[in-house]
Amino acid sequence: MVAQICFLLNNREVCTSQAPSTTVLDYLRQTEKLIGTKVGCREGGCGSCTVLLGELKGEFVDYKVVVSCLLPLAELQGKHLVTIEGINQSQLTVVQQAIADFGATQCGFFTPGMVMSLTGYLLASKTEASEDGIKQALSGNLCRCTGYASLKRVGSFLVKLFGNSKKLTIADLIAHKVIPKYFQNVPLRLSNLATTTLENGKATPDLLIAGGTDIYVEQSDVIRDSKVLFLNHSSIPEMQGISCYENQIHIGALTTFSEFATHPEIINLLGR
Ligand code: FES
Repeated sequence: MVAQICFLLNNREVCTSQAPSTTVLDYLRQTEKLIGTKVGCREGGCGSCTVLLGELKGEFVDYKVVVSCLLPLAELQGKHLVTIEGINQSQLTVVQQAIADFGATQCGFFTPGMVMSLTGYLLASKTEASEDGIKQALSGNLCRCTGYASLKRVGSFLVKLFGNSKKLTIADLIAHKVIPKYFQNVPLRLSNLATTTLENGKATPDLLIAGGTDIYVEQSDVIRDSKVLFLNHSSIPEMQGISCYENQIHIGALTTFSEFATHPEIINLLGR
């Protein structure tokens, strides 16, 4: 039986038996014809292919901003993938409208990625929105057409709008037209999603991949045709997370950069 990858794609449940090593960017544009997600560098450096990835954590969905050009399809199992098409509503969202009002669309090519980064920031923000936070959120989005002054004005506007909210809930974000109403039911839909564990234990994999942000830049075509074992799906505890004991910090090989950068012990140690 061919393993299937099942996930929520915007407001629709999807199962695919495409190669788990296919990039999400190629899947979106070539299979789903969702071409609002743009192709730029294919190296994780420009942000034109930015999407949101939500994972069920207890009763809530934890959303992250990710670049789809370095994301394998295997990572979508049981999750919510949100593209620019998935936040569209009958009118422009607050973020889209602000970008239009402040003349921040630039050439337009990179705008969907910027909209997704800003939307993801508001969706994921654990504290109130701040200008620094917004600058940080846009730091992975490039556009060489013009300057960033208009984007800074968008940021200031969003801070005025959301800066006093302690923690924006999904209901708040729906009420403010940042995201569409269907987000409300995503936790329930994800918990009901029928997923199987991916056949990760192919007898003799050609490649072992943990994250893949280097190898996808260098050899994405090779990976697509290879038997890949995705270590992210392994349950080897030593490879997961960061733990501190005595005078040592243990960093598992599957730790992501953002987990590293936001871990309290690491921040404490590096004095940031
Ligand atoms: Fe540039 Fe993905 S295409 S970051």
